[in-house]
Amino acid sequence: MTDTLKIDNLHVSVEGKPILRGVNLTIRRGETHALMGPNGSGKSTLGLVIMGHPKYQVTAGTMTLNGENLLDKSADERARLGLFYAFQRPVAIPGVKLADFLRHAATNVRHPERKEGEELMPMREFRRELKGKMEQLRMESEFARRYVNDGFSGGEMKRAEILQLAMLQPKIAILDETDSGLDADAVRLASQSIAEIGREKMGLLIITHHDKLLEHNPPDFTHVILGGRIVETGGVELANELHTQGYDRIRQAYPDADEANRKMVEKEEAAAVA
Ligand SMILES: Nc1ncnc2c1ncn2[C@@H]1O[C@H](COP(=O)(O)OP(=O)(O)O)[C@@H](O)[C@H]1O
Ligand SMILES: [Mg+2]
Repeated sequence: MTDTLKIDNLHVSVEGKPILRGVNLTIRRGETHALMGPNGSGKSTLGLVIMGHPKYQVTAGTMTLNGENLLDKSADERARLGLFYAFQRPVAIPGVKLADFLRHAATNVRHPERKEGEELMPMREFRRELKGKMEQLRMESEFARRYVNDGFSGGEMKRAEILQLAMLQPKIAILDETDSGLDADAVRLASQSIAEIGREKMGLLIITHHDKLLEHNPPDFTHVILGGRIVETGGVELANELHTQGYDRIRQAYPDADEANRKMVEKEEAAAVA
């Protein structure tokens, strides 16, 4: 059976505030999905709740990977089951070298029963694999000796996320605005890298505003989220429409979702001022 992430009627709140209002989404290994929507529509929330971020409370609905319930599992357990989330804003881990971080993560994902303190994958094997992936992604080997995201530029942070993706080879990966803060050339390189390391071997959910990121990863499905609901699903043509024409048609076609989105963003702005 193809690995399948299935989300039904998902409702999610943050600090008692409803954000997602009935999301349905099925992603199979080998498929590329684009998730698009205006600011504050719930894109990152959906990505984070799939990964099991403790701040987001699921108030209704189901989420399974190959029929197995995910909602009672921690982020760590979900990663071991084959889920991956590339952060919109990755955090720095000063003192931890990227290579050591990757060796830990790769070992844990490949040996889900491993307990902390138990042996890691052999250094030689790891080095050989890391070198191969870094060459494929045209990265300097020096890069892996730096501390995770510490003093990285926006582009370097995204490259580090893509290297993780390449090493971990998840079943389903969510890439949250892997384009944000990058110039056009860097986005093109990211797009190409994602395609090379296995778009076809994974199920991908690409959250993006940037048509360049989809250039090498044409979506099989494009979903539009507004006010915490997926209001339309189409193919690559829907992504193209949104890139060229924006969200006016969508906002007019789904006034209730548009209203909900406006309220969510207003609250966000009020909170930012306070
Ligand atoms: N950790 C959080 N705490 C409080 N509010 C949040 C949090 N995460 C998201 N929200 C709110 O949820 C809404 C959707 O946010 P988000 O999922 O980040 O949107 P998008 O990624 O589509 O821009 C916004 O109104 C935002 O303020
Ligand atoms: Mg976001």
